Parts: sequence; C-alpha cells; structure tokens
Amino acid sequence: MKIQAVRGMQDLLPRQKEIYRHIEDTLRDVLAAYGYREIGLPLIEFTNLFSRLVGENTDIVEKEMYTFDDRNGDSLTLRPEGTVGCARLAQENGLIFNQVQRFWYAGPMFRYERPQKGRYRQFEQIGVECFGMADADIDAELLLMSRRMWQALGIDGKIHLELNSLGNAASRSAYRQALVTYLRGVQAELDGDSQRRLETNPLRILDSKVEQTQALLADAPLLTDFLDHESSVHFDHLRRVLDRKQQPYRVNPRIVRGLDYYSKTVFEWITDSLGAQGTVCGGGRYDSLVEQLGGRSVPGLGFAIGIDRLAMMLDDNFESTAYADVYIASVGNAARDCALMLAEDIRDEMVECRVVVHCSEGKLKRQMKKADASDARVALIIGENEVSRNEVTVKLLATGEQRSVEITQVPDYLRQVLTS
Ligand code: HAM
Repeated sequence: MKIQAVRGMQDLLPRQKEIYRHIEDTLRDVLAAYGYREIGLPLIEFTNLFSRLVGENTDIVEKEMYTFDDRNGDSLTLRPEGTVGCARLAQENGLIFNQVQRFWYAGPMFRYERPQKGRYRQFEQIGVECFGMADADIDAELLLMSRRMWQALGIDGKIHLELNSLGNAASRSAYRQALVTYLRGVQAELDGDSQRRLETNPLRILDSKVEQTQALLADAPLLTDFLDHESSVHFDHLRRVLDRKQQPYRVNPRIVRGLDYYSKTVFEWITDSLGAQGTVCGGGRYDSLVEQLGGRSVPGLGFAIGIDRLAMMLDDNFESTAYADVYIASVGNAARDCALMLAEDIRDEMVECRVVVHCSEGKLKRQMKKADASDARVALIIGENEVSRNEVTVKLLATGEQRSVEITQVPDYLRQVLTS
C-alpha cells in the first residue's frame, strides 16, 4: 500500500511555511506592542477538560475530537482549541487569581471535520487569552489589536468585524427558551441537523448554513432583546470605543460561536475572499470558565486566528525570499573538499551569510543552473585549476561578471559585494 498523508492533515511546503513564519513574526511584534507573553500549551489534555468546558453538545465535543486511551487507561484528547487549555494552565500554575494576564500561544489544533479548502483536521492557530479584566476596555483593546494585526499584514481592507453580545447565563437561558418555543412552531420545516440541535444546543441553529432554516429564522426572537442590563452597558461601552477609534463593525445577533464557554462579547473577523471558510478569527469573553474549571471567579476573554486561512489570503502577493546568498559549485574531488572548507570559513566570518554548497557530483553547467534557481547573488566556482592556484572564481549572478579571488580573501570580497 502506498503510504500517504492522513486526510485533512496538510503538508506545508517551504513557500507555505515561509508565509506561516512571516505571519507569526508579524503578529508576534504586534502582540509584544500590547504586552502579551507567550506560553506553551501541551498538545494533549485530559478529555474531560474539553468535554466539560467546550461543551458536551458542541460539534467539537460531539464529533470532532481525536480521543484515545493512553497506556494507563486515561482518556486523552489532541487539543481541538487552546482556550480551555490556557485557562487550565493559568489556574494550575497560580497565574490568575488576583492578577491580570495577557497570554498568547501558537501551534496546531486538531478537529475531525470534513476537510475542504480552508478547513483541515490539523490546522494552525495563534490564540490570545486575557484574565482578570472585567471592563469592556479590554474587549476593545483586543479588537483594536487584531485590527493592527490585519494592518501589519496588509489585509485590513479585505476583512470585516462582526460583533454580538450573548449576555449572562440567565439572559441566554431566557433567550434559549424563547427561541425553542418559536422553533417548535416550525420544527417540521427545519433541516435534520437543526431538529437535533433543537434538543441539544438550540442557539447553534442560528448559524446554520441551510438556506431554508435561515429563512425560518428571519422572524425568530433576537438575542439582543434579551440582554441583561449589565451586559448591555458593557456592550455599549465596547461599541463606543470602537466608534471613537473608527473601527467599523456590524452587530450580528446570529453570531453565537460554536463553543459553550462564551458570555457577553463575541466576535468574528470575516473575509469574503475565501468562500465558505471566511472566518479568519473568532473569539469573545468567557467570564465563568475559570470558575467552572474549579477555580475562583476570574473574568477572561480572547480570540484565535486561523493561520492557514490567513496564509491563503496572503499567498498571491507573497514574495518568497532567497534561501541562499552564496552558492558554491565545484568540479573534482579536491575542489569538493575545498568547497566544504571554504563554506565553513565564510560562515565563521560572516554569521549572517547563507551559504549553500552543491554537495554532489554534476557538470558545472547543471550546478550553475541550481545556483541561478537558488536566487543567490554570488556563485563561487572551484575547479582543478582554482585548487592548484589557491583561487576561487567569483561570479555575480545578476550581471554574469566574473573574477578570480585568492581563497583567503573570499570572505572579505563577499562582504564587499553582498553589502553593496
Ligand atoms: P474557533 O472559532 O473554533 O475558536 O476557531 C478560531 C479560528 O480557527 C477560526 O476562526 C478559523 O479561522 C480557525 N479554524 C477553526 N477550525 C479550523 C479548521 N478545521 N481548519 C482551519 N482553520 C480552522 C476557538 O478555537 C476559540 N478557542 C477562540 C477563542 C480564544 N475564544 C476565546 N479565546
């Protein structure tokens, strides 16, 4: 049997990986500007962390987790998301009670979803989580920070913000009741998935993709009308700051998010340029998560960005950088030895210089083709004549200009041509 990659698990080739690295480096700088500190979360947690806190009736827990028993018989799960793991980390390490924290993390998440463009079973997120801040200022700061991220990546024109407030647990429960009463009246016309959700997680029906269901929802009660006073004041404050900072948004009462831990603010950044998988970032507030984890009550909020989706947005205009400054070609055994030694000498003297040695046999013409393809600026050519004269032929690949340089002088010469 031919062995292939597991369905939904992407191979990332050098160009793609370069885009991912560029995204992470760019976002890292923005995070630093807001005082966020990076943490490392385990890829694996106890299954009940997710089932209890992401929610038994969410898609993630019902059908998307990679769960297995380890040799000890403990049920473990590959993390489908980072928020609950981060809350666990913060609580277990004593980092949140009576403290204010701003954390970020990056890495792969795993969900057994139906793979398609922009949706994978292993995908990359950069997530941020804040603890200890109840006021809407931090909700606003979080959104302004994400805006700065899109600006830094040059995609702010292609992405818009949708906002909602889910209110507190009591207002959500009152709303749920009203929604269920309404939907029972049209139950027979709902799609199968929504009929099932009516029993388990009715709020999720709101973001059903089925057109007929969406049409039935047109007259459904609105969550916004059920908001408790405190959540409503909180939401107004957030909106005022966004208005003041001229950040456009659309209040979308249908945004409920697919995870159970949210309360008050929820939001998504959406692009039209990726088709159905257009949500590049989602997040919100989760003021009762830490308490549910068994800690004291500590407010929290955050978001996660889908890096695979951002990378797709950047792909067309991304220019790969060359991976070599200097390419060394050699012909003959003595010259090959010499090439390796010279490369080490250059790296000793010029730490920044990227040197690629053509480490195998081959006609000079073929080696020079490789040199051109590497986008290096300089090729060093060593043949038998050069070895006997202790020289190297230096060729500037942009112009084809060539000259001989004494071998010990090569680093100095390179420094001149590469910095000019
Ligand atoms: P989420 O909405 O499930 O939220 O995921 C956040 C982002 O991850 C999505 O907007 C999307 O860009 C990306 N994403 C999700 N699933 C996939 C997939 N199968 N393939 C590719 N990209 C995907 C969370 O994960 C929450 N933990 C966010 C959060 C942090 N809320 C508060 N703090």
